[in-house]
Amino acid sequence: MSGKLIENRDPPEVGFETFSPLKRAFKRAIVNPLANYLPAGLTKAILRFGKSELAAANWADPGGWRSMVISYNGRCEQIADKILVKAGTVPTALRNRKRLAAHLLAELIDSDGSESTHVLCLGAGPGQIITEAMSQAKTVAHATLVDLNSDSFDFGRQMADERGLSERVRFIQADVRDLHEYLHDPPHVVKMMGICEYLDDEQIVTIARAAADVMPDGSPIVFNSISKSHGTDRFFRRVFGLHMNHRSGGELAGLMRQAGFGNFLAYREPLGVYHVIIGRKALSAD
Ligand SMILES: C[S@@+](CC[C@H](N)C(=O)[O-])C[C@H]1O[C@@H](n2cnc3c(N)ncnc32)[C@H](O)[C@@H]1O
Repeated sequence: MSGKLIENRDPPEVGFETFSPLKRAFKRAIVNPLANYLPAGLTKAILRFGKSELAAANWADPGGWRSMVISYNGRCEQIADKILVKAGTVPTALRNRKRLAAHLLAELIDSDGSESTHVLCLGAGPGQIITEAMSQAKTVAHATLVDLNSDSFDFGRQMADERGLSERVRFIQADVRDLHEYLHDPPHVVKMMGICEYLDDEQIVTIARAAADVMPDGSPIVFNSISKSHGTDRFFRRVFGLHMNHRSGGELAGLMRQAGFGNFLAYREPLGVYHVIIGRKALSAD
């Protein structure tokens, strides 16, 4: 290895959404300052009047699975959501992140070489990323999806059923820190997408260590960083009540290293908000 903790790689072409230079400049100069500095009460009233489903989902559960599903789908009825979801930097970057992560996971499944690759998804929500990856993969995989909150599981089962995957996904309601209590089939691949930004450093290390404890040496973990470059953190905090912890890929890789991972490869989605990162479980000392 080059001595660098993390190595940047060009992302594969997976149908990313991007903004023109003019649109970026308009967002930076006009849209973001307005979103960030209009009185929060006024913005909330506008979103309530506009019946924004994305705002309602965040007010009920900031950053929860329903708001992810709305952002991933990108097809909205209300004008407020057409603006927020279709043109917003973070929802657009989320769709890019989903496409990128699903593609990389499908490649990891195909290169695993097991009869059926076992993917463990931590903080999985309904499992949109893994079911997309399993559909893209040329080889067979099965997945264990773990989430504290079981609200998303019926939706997840329906989605898996539509893709013909219902026999290959298992949902478990649990805290991912207690993995060793219910996981008896070691995972070949671990996915920890969309969760680190809601956790503090100690929680990330604890969860990643719990994953490392059940993973074979050299097996991959897939996670993501988030940068403040989207320029709307103040809006998310004040209007949606969403408090995300922004960390660079290097900072996250440092935490993952404490948990027993190394050889990090980072893939940047084109808006520069997220990197999807693959690390490998380091060889055990014994
Ligand atoms: C933002 S959603 C991400 C869903 C999905 N991974 C994705 O990227 O689309 C984060 C999920 O992590 C779950 N979560 C947070 N902390 C957890 C923990 N300690 N154990 C299990 N699930 C957790 C939440 O319930 C939520 O469904």
